[in-house]
Amino acid sequence: MTSSLVYARAFFDLQLQFAKAVSAPSGLPLTRALLEYTNLYVRFGLGHAFDPAHPVWQEYLAGMGDANDTGEWTYRFYLARPQAGAPPGIVATFGCFSYALLSEGRIRLHFGNAEPDGHSPLGIERRDRRLADLAALFGHVKRTMQAPPRVVGASWLYNLEAYRRLFPKSYLATAHVLHGRFQHMPLWGQFVNRDGTVRESVARDFLERLGRLTSLESLGECFPLPVLTAEAPAREFYEFCGI
Ligand SMILES: CC(C)(COP(=O)(O)OP(=O)(O)OC[C@H]1O[C@@H](n2cnc3c(N)ncnc32)[C@H](O)[C@@H]1OP(=O)(O)O)[C@@H](O)C(=O)NCCC(=O)NCCS
Repeated sequence: MTSSLVYARAFFDLQLQFAKAVSAPSGLPLTRALLEYTNLYVRFGLGHAFDPAHPVWQEYLAGMGDANDTGEWTYRFYLARPQAGAPPGIVATFGCFSYALLSEGRIRLHFGNAEPDGHSPLGIERRDRRLADLAALFGHVKRTMQAPPRVVGASWLYNLEAYRRLFPKSYLATAHVLHGRFQHMPLWGQFVNRDGTVRESVARDFLERLGRLTSLESLGECFPLPVLTAEAPAREFYEFCGI
């Protein structure tokens, strides 16, 4: 998983710009926009409760108020924090894939780069390894869960052919847009390369769209790729993986 990945400052600058663009016309205080419309709380390793009173979050906001350069303050704060852990409730990890238990009878797939030496994790030359990761993951699910669960995914990655080619067609056929995921990596992940640097062309596109924003109702359209969610029974994956 990507838990040891250090994200570049530009990734945080994008999120600050977004929070400011949300706050200015809406009258929503910047402190709320930072909490509700960025991934900062998670990146600071504070979990997913998004508690505005969390002492570490309060410390961050206090520094924002005093800072000459809010981008510099935010990035220094991030670097000084322990690495954010894996997504909540992870049961097991197999290469680039892991899964978590959701509610009864449902599991959630997660993806993060685990390739050593800078290899492209979704490149065609790594496709067999990714399929082997998934086969190992579903082997574990089959061995350890009494009844086959339903499998849920949600990510910007489902827009990419390089990702889609790893999944059963029946699962992909259920994919639809999930709105409002402004606090989460399945939306913000589209801006980063596997080494944590920002993907310049995507960031440029985002900032252009942000500059043209006229209504907060179309905030989601600032993001070049939407979050797509898909869901299917594990049996379809067992068949697809040949297990
Ligand atoms: C997922 C992640 C490892 C992909 O990194 P990467 O360096 O782009 O990986 P790859 O080189 O394997 O890219 C896969 C392909 O998608 C394309 N691609 C990547 N990001 C893209 C984007 N934002 N828009 C369009 N295409 C994109 C790449 O060009 C590449 O295609 P190609 O093989 O035809 O050149 C990286 O974005 C990341 O670590 N993100 C943060 C974590 C995350 O988003 N996880 C998923 C959350 S659910």
